[in-house]
Amino acid sequence: MTSAVKEIASIERDWTQPEFMRIANTIEELTGISFPPNRRASAEAVMRKVMSKLGMTNPVSLEIGVSRRGAVLEALLDDLTIGESYFFREPAQLRFMAEELLPKWSMEWEAGRKLKVWSAGCAAGQEPYSVAIMLRDAAWRHECTILGTDISEARIEVARKATFSKWSLRTLPPETTDRWFDRKGSVFQLVPEIRSEVEFTTLNLLDPSPRPETQNQDVILCRNVLIYFELPAIITIAERLLQSLGPDGWLFLGASDPHLAELTACEVVVLPGCTGYRRTSAKQSTYALRNAPLTLIIPDESLVPPTELDDLPDSRKTLPPLAIAPSAPTPDLSQVTIELGAPVQAIARARELANEGRLVEAGEVCAAALEKFPDQAQLHLIAAVLHGEAGRWRESERAAKRALYLDRSLVLAHVALGDAIARNGNVVAARRSFENAAALLVSAGSDDMPQAGDISAARLTDIVRAHLSMLNKQPESMALPSSRRAVGQ
Ligand SMILES: C[S@@+](CC[C@H](N)C(=O)[O-])C[C@H]1O[C@@H](n2cnc3c(N)ncnc32)[C@H](O)[C@@H]1O
Repeated sequence: MTSAVKEIASIERDWTQPEFMRIANTIEELTGISFPPNRRASAEAVMRKVMSKLGMTNPVSLEIGVSRRGAVLEALLDDLTIGESYFFREPAQLRFMAEELLPKWSMEWEAGRKLKVWSAGCAAGQEPYSVAIMLRDAAWRHECTILGTDISEARIEVARKATFSKWSLRTLPPETTDRWFDRKGSVFQLVPEIRSEVEFTTLNLLDPSPRPETQNQDVILCRNVLIYFELPAIITIAERLLQSLGPDGWLFLGASDPHLAELTACEVVVLPGCTGYRRTSAKQSTYALRNAPLTLIIPDESLVPPTELDDLPDSRKTLPPLAIAPSAPTPDLSQVTIELGAPVQAIARARELANEGRLVEAGEVCAAALEKFPDQAQLHLIAAVLHGEAGRWRESERAAKRALYLDRSLVLAHVALGDAIARNGNVVAARRSFENAAALLVSAGSDDMPQAGDISAARLTDIVRAHLSMLNKQPESMALPSSRRAVGQ
């Protein structure tokens, strides 16, 4: 048997019937959705379910139905594509839109200019409707078009009806639900004023002819769609989406979606809690950093195994004991009862508070925990980030050094140290810290790097590259402006 024949035979063995394999191939060709071995059993179960729904007993009938491209294919697509979505999923991007983009555009745009937002792969509409609610909450005054598209006709129909289960609303506070939905038994009907803001249509992202209504967009959301595709389809779609942006437009993907910088030329902008992509005229991807505080992304474990790096100074012996006062009034620890438990619990508590933005409380827990567990690198890292948030860059530098003295493999401690050193004016040393972080990320390899908290290795790589690209533009000795939020705001 030739190797090609062996390969085909082995693929066929993975599917229980060759018809199922051929149907899967057709669907991948049409939609980009791939069926790696671990998804084949569930795909077959869906195919069998559709067969029984349509009264078919033989997979050959299903294959013939699919080849005719009509209702049979539609039924399969609805069930084989994953339509999970909910309101205000991955809120960092909407927050960035509301807090940064809208105020800027509102000031700069001449009257009459329309905002154009496209939710590509919108499932049953939760994503574009979230944008519509966000625009209302942000009191956006210009006209806007919000377009929701999906390959699944059935989902688009549900989107137009705009009735949702409680599950789709699970992250909304009750006052938002009460304001924008009318409850009818167990379902929630979106109010007409939000429904009328969104236009829906079916659209296959692999369709090569661009539709006029998808062009020149200010914001494109294509989240949790590319995750199901193979590389060639991802590249094709990503390039088309970037082409569909207006000159000042932003593309946002989901946190688990593939990382575009390695796949096509684009500008990668690291933002608080998310990454944005923009068109670039450069042939290679470029990086930029926008006000991306680390507290939002303190991970829950060391990201990579230890490697040999430049020796760091033994700061622990020479520095005064650490006190963390996140904002002006220093917390009186004698008044605070903090249940610390084991180091791991104290670290988890401090991290949780910091990531929720409760920085004063995080500082209190961290300071108390450090008194009890001074040899915990993660606590020093959290301290470094909290000091940085408060603009205390000297203390942040010291705390990051302590963290690295205890554990050189903490990538984020190198990042925190580099950030602090840069703010303290030493661009060369800061660059070295970021290069150490980059070396650790490369040495771990992106495939076997575990996810930590909600920060992926790809996002961490973006953060490091963005810092390096910013430092490479700086004179060698110059303090960087603080891009951090003031604590307590
Ligand atoms: C997991 S949902 C994501 C929904 C929403 N964007 C979110 O993040 O909550 C993925 C959606 O992508 C759609 N989809 C899959 N392949 C597509 C394609 N080739 N063109 C357009 N939409 C597609 C599916 O029908 C599904 O509704």
